[in-house]
Amino acid sequence: MAKRLRIVHYPEPVLLSVARPVTDRAFENGLAAIAEDMFATMSDAGGVGLAAPQVGESTRLFVMDIPEGDGTPAVRAALVNPEILHVEGEQTGDEGCLSFPGIFQPVRRQMRVVARALDVAGKEFELDVTGLAARCVLHETDHLDGIVFLDRMSALKRDLAKRKIKRLQKRGEW
Ligand code: NI
Repeated sequence: MAKRLRIVHYPEPVLLSVARPVTDRAFENGLAAIAEDMFATMSDAGGVGLAAPQVGESTRLFVMDIPEGDGTPAVRAALVNPEILHVEGEQTGDEGCLSFPGIFQPVRRQMRVVARALDVAGKEFELDVTGLAARCVLHETDHLDGIVFLDRMSALKRDLAKRKIKRLQKRGEW
């Protein structure tokens, strides 16, 4: 039975740090189970992507579960030690993050991403995705580098988002 994990909110230090690569030992120590817990936690929270630092683990692992879209297939995967091999094109769309509840702002990202990663069993695979799935891979890979989507917004939108966060913090709603 998958456990529900606590999702940390900005500006928890773990969200602003570069996460550690997954080692062979981590695979032996139940990485697959952690990924299952992350899938369950993400699904309960209504998200489509969740990175390990968001559940307090400074580890290069994220999960994604993107529904089928307009001409794009569903993508459900756990990516360990992901590397971005290729990006192209551009898209701008509203983005959210489970570590920023209630904040949605437009973010510009690349339209297509080719990434290489290990699965939870340690087997290498490649992912070639577009649209929302590409946005998700870029957003979650950023998390592993201590970059949050606030850093990708225009200065104006970032100020708006920061002001809203401050208001929510003051009211104890963050
Ligand atoms: Ni996020």
